[in-house]
Amino acid sequence: MKITVIGAGAVGATTADNLVRRNIAEEIVLLDIKEGVAEGKAQDIMQTSALLGFNSKIVGVTNDYLSTAGSAVAVITSGIPRKPGMTREELIGTNAGIVKTVVENLIKYSPEIIILVVSNPMDTMTYLALKVSGLPKNRIIGMGGALDSARFKYQIAEKLNASANDLNAIVIGGHGDTTMIPLIKHATWNSVPVHQFLTEEEEADIVKKTMVGGATLTALIGTSAWYAPGAAAAAMAESIVHDQNRLFTASVFLDGEFDESDINIGVPVIINKNGWEKIVPLHLSEEEKQAFSKSADAVRAMNKVLKDSEII
Ligand code: LAC
Repeated sequence: MKITVIGAGAVGATTADNLVRRNIAEEIVLLDIKEGVAEGKAQDIMQTSALLGFNSKIVGVTNDYLSTAGSAVAVITSGIPRKPGMTREELIGTNAGIVKTVVENLIKYSPEIIILVVSNPMDTMTYLALKVSGLPKNRIIGMGGALDSARFKYQIAEKLNASANDLNAIVIGGHGDTTMIPLIKHATWNSVPVHQFLTEEEEADIVKKTMVGGATLTALIGTSAWYAPGAAAAAMAESIVHDQNRLFTASVFLDGEFDESDINIGVPVIINKNGWEKIVPLHLSEEEKQAFSKSADAVRAMNKVLKDSEII
């Protein structure tokens, strides 16, 4: 089994590192357009093998798509990351062209591939990947909800002084500072609603901190985060290659579900060897439904940029 990671920047390299450490696939191909970068990072990661005890192999290549041939999964992380003060949406001009080229190259050599999109603005880049590839909708998955849900659990865990592993909490909607919807009223601490332990103010604070989770890190670090994004992408890739049927929120194509169509946006889905399968229905309150519809409008406005600039 081969997994390709496109982009050997911080998120791509961390994804590859997570994949090899846990022996998720026999071979990882790390590809970058900058001469030598993927080769260097691949060697650096491989040199941890004797220390960490994994057997997977990672190969770094410069723009050589032939090496990606026969990949079961590709994780696309290429494009520019945001700088402090930037929104994910401001990246569309640069990243759309990059993601389009990457998708075209990938499917040339791996027609059966399942594509996980991490590049921002993620929902729009996922929609672009679907349109450009012509692949069945279940083989194009946007990684955003898995990351945002992990950040949501972190914020709840901090407030409750709980283990994040005991929490059940998801974020739906767009992967944007103002478009994501952390479903706090649905969150539980091993089946007990967290609502029982938190005041309205504490809940509002958790939601707010989750929504700006990425921006907070960008302001602190000077560029966007990579540890949690890389771990989230690797966890989703693992659910595909090991056919785990894990439930993640992911950006998938809606065709009437959640009252939306012709859009990729975050909803709960099952992820397995077929890509995403089965959208899991949620009982949303009127307020949550309205928030979802508003989030979809914002994502749709971004998608329109692709059409207006004739990228799709
Ligand atoms: C973040 C980027 C990966 O949220 O979108 O950190």
